Amino acid sequence: MKLNINGQIIDKHAVWWDEEINKVKLIDQTKIPFVVEILTCNTYRDTADAIKNMNIRGAPAIGAAAAYGFVQAIWEFWGDKDYESKLKYAYKTLLAARPTAIDLKNGLDYIQSFFPIDPENALKKAKRLADEIAAEGKKIGQIGKELIHDEMNILTHCHTGALALVDFGSAIAPIIAAWEDGKQFHVYVDETRPRIQGRMTAWELYQYKINHTVICDSVSGYLMSKGKIDMVILGADRVVQNGDIANKIGTYNIAVLAKHHQVPFYTAFPKSTYDPRTKSGKDIKIETRSNEEITHVIGYSSEEKRLTRIELYGSGSKFYNPAFDVTPADLITGYITPYGILTSSQELKTFFQPRTE
Ligand code: MRU
Repeated sequence: MKLNINGQIIDKHAVWWDEEINKVKLIDQTKIPFVVEILTCNTYRDTADAIKNMNIRGAPAIGAAAAYGFVQAIWEFWGDKDYESKLKYAYKTLLAARPTAIDLKNGLDYIQSFFPIDPENALKKAKRLADEIAAEGKKIGQIGKELIHDEMNILTHCHTGALALVDFGSAIAPIIAAWEDGKQFHVYVDETRPRIQGRMTAWELYQYKINHTVICDSVSGYLMSKGKIDMVILGADRVVQNGDIANKIGTYNIAVLAKHHQVPFYTAFPKSTYDPRTKSGKDIKIETRSNEEITHVIGYSSEEKRLTRIELYGSGSKFYNPAFDVTPADLITGYITPYGILTSSQELKTFFQPRTE
């Protein structure tokens, strides 16, 4: 993706390995859209922290970051007499950074499947994984764009753009591809509280000049009741055996509303998001994040010309902040994947085979 950093245009993935300094670099997503900055992760611990603190976010992007982080650990401990135990600890640290998106575990397991592997070759594998995820995003775009027609109103939730998927995006990819084909439509962007990932989606759609409107998360039911939404496309953080998905909190509300109003509901994702080992959505661990994400908001102060954090509540209340929810398969019209638009858990199982190279 092309990004403007202080007037300089760079063409980068969401996360990459800087050959010159042998370190992991990523676009700091905590500051977008106000400031575009690159964060350097010197060690695997820094990379784990960047995932945990959401400097990098979006399921496939954190999968790629975890793979690179694991390579950093291999590099650091290669030749060490406690190599195995140190690597095991690194795996655990990276895995614990975020629990819901299976891409993270899939990224680590992919690198681990080649053990014993030297640092240079491990790095080649991590790069390959990142490149493949990006290529799958492009394919999702080409496949999913066929669902989009002139005059449509599409609802999307959370952030599924290039930064969330290494490059090209998942749910956003068909929207961009259809727009580039000249189709004329409109996108409703859910704000996506509490972390307001909708502002990243809005920022990305704006770069392509795609016609869009940001709405509060509670507005979609009203719009559907007025016949103003023709289709929902969003991403996934984990897709399990029976076809249930975990995605950003609020996805389930949208799916129930969509079913009630007979609005088609699609989820788009690459191979790294598929979890064949987990049977149903009930078995997915849902991440609960800090209450500060509800009680405080980070925004840009134009007076002070910097990011600032303000408090939204008085004292005395309890808060609860689950970051994801589960949408059962029977509410999902189709899965937009690099293998086509699939409609059943059996098709998912057939097409999503583990990576072996
Ligand atoms: O908590 P985040 O910002 O990592 O959550 C991102 C999402 O939930 C996205 O919808 C998702 O990862 C799916 S598509 C890239």
